[in-house]
Amino acid sequence: MSAIDSAIRAAATSIVLDGVSKSYDKGAEVIPPLSAELRAGEFTVVLGPSGCGKSTLLQMIAGLERVSAGAIRFGSREVHELEPKQRGCAMVFQNYALYPHMSVFDNIAYSLKVAGMARAERLQRVEAAARMLALTGLLGRKPGQLSGGQRQRVAIGRAIVREPGILLFDEPLSNLDAQLRHDMRIELAELHRRIGATTVFVTHDQVEAMTLADRIVILNKGRIEQFDTPRTIYHKPASVFVARFIGSPPMNILPVQGDGSTLRLASGEVLARSSLKGSYQLGIRPEDIQINNGPLQVKLRYREELGSHSVLAVEIAGNLIRISTPFGSDIGSRDTFAVNFPPERLHLFDAGDGRAIPYAFTRAKALADA
Ligand SMILES: Nc1ncnc2c1ncn2[C@@H]1O[C@H](COP(=O)(O)OP(=O)(O)OP(=O)(O)O)[C@@H](O)[C@H]1O
Ligand SMILES: [Mg+2]
Repeated sequence: MSAIDSAIRAAATSIVLDGVSKSYDKGAEVIPPLSAELRAGEFTVVLGPSGCGKSTLLQMIAGLERVSAGAIRFGSREVHELEPKQRGCAMVFQNYALYPHMSVFDNIAYSLKVAGMARAERLQRVEAAARMLALTGLLGRKPGQLSGGQRQRVAIGRAIVREPGILLFDEPLSNLDAQLRHDMRIELAELHRRIGATTVFVTHDQVEAMTLADRIVILNKGRIEQFDTPRTIYHKPASVFVARFIGSPPMNILPVQGDGSTLRLASGEVLARSSLKGSYQLGIRPEDIQINNGPLQVKLRYREELGSHSVLAVEIAGNLIRISTPFGSDIGSRDTFAVNFPPERLHLFDAGDGRAIPYAFTRAKALADA
């Protein structure tokens, strides 16, 4: 293990957000009081739609924005009154500005030079970072002579060379093409595995979130909708918002009425058995709907062929839903066919606030068995 690896690993601390809120001068509260603990060494992805407060949250952690109320701690150290420099975290911005007149080496080494580090140690650190990011052969070039992905890696190198215990990324891959994003995701995951810095990664790309995160924070209007592992977020979304934010195409949501034994659409079709009464929202993922068997008749509106699978948009009693099905699965030229909603694949949410209602179908099953 190189010096840079061990120094970073040693310094990783938890990030505790304790009732942190943010209001800009005249505007409304962008982030209402928010509490969460990001564990030491954990890779946390903050995911949410544009304008939900992701960058604001990251900048408060970095010290580039002040908190309006609450406290931020790195481990047991209170940091929210400290200058960015004193906090010891490194940040990679979405629009990484490299110094155009400096070589890659000097760009990466700049902060070390400013900090007065001896030349020999600087050299050692930059070379270690360059090896990690596969930039060794490019150290003599200027940023103008690099591809976008190479420049991005220089920006990451500049952040990690300071041996931060905390690494903050704000949509660092958003300017890259699909192939490069994929390659960089793998490099970032590998980097994190090796250096173990507490990492906060902001994105609105759910694939990045699912593949990189130990845990995902789903942010909606500055509030945490759910903070959990990718697997739990996908399989047990805590709200309609989360259910529709993760998954492509998003989860189908249908309004249903419970009469004490069944959940029905307004037009009368029974979608599930349940002892619940009242109005609910029923969710099912496009990939969980079974076709060519089952009690529900649907009408095909259009289909998208995506190579590996097809997405069928179908109508069920006036509601448009999507079905994801392996390429080649044959509905022929029929425009109506049967589908099944497997009960173990259903999700139920409150009709008003959209929060998940747990165990609704376990109870339904018990009822069916009784
Ligand atoms: N300096 C500011 N003054 C007033 N309002 C601001 C300021 N900076 C950001 N905002 C507002 O705060 C909200 C959150 O902004 P933020 O940049 O954190 O969103 P985001 O989740 O990072 O969005 P995106 O995905 O588009 O980058 C937005 O409604 C934005 O208009
Ligand atoms: Mg942002």
